[in-house]
Amino acid sequence: MLVTWSTQLLTNETYVEYSLWNGTFSLRENATMSKFIDGSSAHRVLYMYRATLKNLTMDTVYMYHVGSPAGLSAKYSFRTILDENRKSFAVYGDLGVVNAQSLARLQRDAQLDYYDAILHVGDFAYDMDADESRVGDQFMNEIQEIAAYVPYMVAPGNHERAYNFSNYKSRFSMPSNGDGENLWYSYNFGLAHIISFSTEVYFWWEFGFAQIANQYRWLEQDLQWATAPENRTKYPWIITMGHQPMYCSNANQDDCTFYDSRPRSGLPYIHTFGLEKLFYDYGVDLELWAHEHSYER
Ligand SMILES: [Fe+2]
Repeated sequence: MLVTWSTQLLTNETYVEYSLWNGTFSLRENATMSKFIDGSSAHRVLYMYRATLKNLTMDTVYMYHVGSPAGLSAKYSFRTILDENRKSFAVYGDLGVVNAQSLARLQRDAQLDYYDAILHVGDFAYDMDADESRVGDQFMNEIQEIAAYVPYMVAPGNHERAYNFSNYKSRFSMPSNGDGENLWYSYNFGLAHIISFSTEVYFWWEFGFAQIANQYRWLEQDLQWATAPENRTKYPWIITMGHQPMYCSNANQDDCTFYDSRPRSGLPYIHTFGLEKLFYDYGVDLELWAHEHSYER
């Protein structure tokens, strides 16, 4: 289990202390620190800490807190995954600091252990970089009452694009088997192979064309792995999540209202790196999208 947190002042000797629920915080894992500098002219600094708790037993409740000799957080808990295939997810996108209508329900359900993981398919806070990234701080404090209990898995949306997605890249900790900065990655969970990717590479070219091809090639390789017979037998469901959908029936002239939407057909006019054919060829079972603020399936 990987725990991520941040402070505004640098703390030394920073760690997670943990144990079984009825234990005494007898285990400790030291954290690594990275510095986040907000992209605005204020250059506000946050210190991001990460620690991975190892040798955990399946289907077991642990308690933990984070901090340093200067002070500790509240006590939180998580349950490690069950040694069985049934898994329960909450899936959503587009959750802001203001008008977060699902927040209380999600916090309550997460604390009641209803979910094995949360999948947040892009667009956070509106926007994390606002007010010198203080809106990002506020958002992370709100979802802490979810994410401190349950793995919180993310994909980038258009609202994360400021300063080349720096808040998004710095505040979350996703598997490192993709680009290494949370933009694309995959993992196995129960019977599913879950792939998170960035639809935003098709829209914000100022951050480089190369990442369109890099992501596409990685997706192809990852799908080759997932569809190898021995892996597909173990993880028969292939699930993708990306923010801006290939299709939608909204009448708002967004990209998905056009036949040749970018994630579907790839780059305009030349139609390269489109994902519809790729996902179809490799038998992706379920694609999760967000962005349109409407429910369609
Ligand atoms: Fe969006």
